[in-house]
Amino acid sequence: MPARLVSVINMKGGVGKSTTTVSLAETLALHQRRRVLVIDLDPQTNASIMAAGPEKWNALREAERTLDFYFESYIVQQKPKPFKSLVETRVSDLKGKPDVSLCAAAPEFRIVERDMIESFVKRGFQIDQIQKWICERFANGLKTVINDYDYILIDCPPGISLFAEAALIAADAILVPTIPDYVSRLGLITFRKRALRLINERRGGASQLMVLATKYDETFSLHRSEAQLLKDNLGEAMFDVRIPQHVDIAKAAEWSETPRTFDQKYGAMAPTIAKLGEEFMSKVDLAPAL
Ligand SMILES: Nc1ncnc2c1ncn2[C@@H]1O[C@H](COP(=O)(O)OP(=O)(O)O)[C@@H](O)[C@H]1O
Ligand SMILES: [Mg+2]
Repeated sequence: MPARLVSVINMKGGVGKSTTTVSLAETLALHQRRRVLVIDLDPQTNASIMAAGPEKWNALREAERTLDFYFESYIVQQKPKPFKSLVETRVSDLKGKPDVSLCAAAPEFRIVERDMIESFVKRGFQIDQIQKWICERFANGLKTVINDYDYILIDCPPGISLFAEAALIAADAILVPTIPDYVSRLGLITFRKRALRLINERRGGASQLMVLATKYDETFSLHRSEAQLLKDNLGEAMFDVRIPQHVDIAKAAEWSETPRTFDQKYGAMAPTIAKLGEEFMSKVDLAPAL
């Protein structure tokens, strides 16, 4: 059974997309025994560095195994780079080497995106043709790895970019980490409409949109009421588990040279992250356990 493709998206930055992507990947691999690939589409590279550490990430860049080289190879070289060659396996700093693989991003991705658009515009392409081109190349790459995993999690950049839209269109499900405040809720409703429209127009087929409250502060009554409103509006699409604003989540994101257990890494937040994995599994259709 091919992997379920889940894109982690929010128009806003700093809401916990990358943190959620990596911690979810780790609990799915460790506690649920799933094979997980994290694809980092954000030139800010946070998920890459969180998942693989700065040294390995640097080695991937030097070896030209980051995502920018894949897209660049289609434009400037005769022969496209195999997508599979970007994938680095067993990247996590957790003990027991859970099955988390990474397809890393690099800051150069921004330049590649810009150059690509420029070259297409010069050749008279329209924006939707460029979008289609990116989606096709991305889908071609994904096809070559989709049978190697149970889940592919795509960490998207904030804002609207052609690559984020490609991830939206390719996805079986969308996970939107959201800080439960008023502005985020309004933004979410707008985004949801747009996302569902895009998916239905461009691809057809069933897709899911799931929302996860992040950086949740239960002492803050606004967070409590906004999270409840989201739940009332979204029902099953809203996660019951909420990710608190907690120093142990921020600390887990710092790479450790010495492998650590899940409890050492996530501290007081370990049970919450494990619950996130369980609930994720119950929300997303999946292959039988290995
Ligand atoms: N639940 C949390 N509690 C405390 N800090 C968090 C939490 N989630 C994320 N952070 C911190 O907030 C910052 C932004 O998180 P990040 O996952 O990079 O957001 P995004 O990918 O949406 O831009 C990071 O410094 C991260 O360590
Ligand atoms: Mg991020």
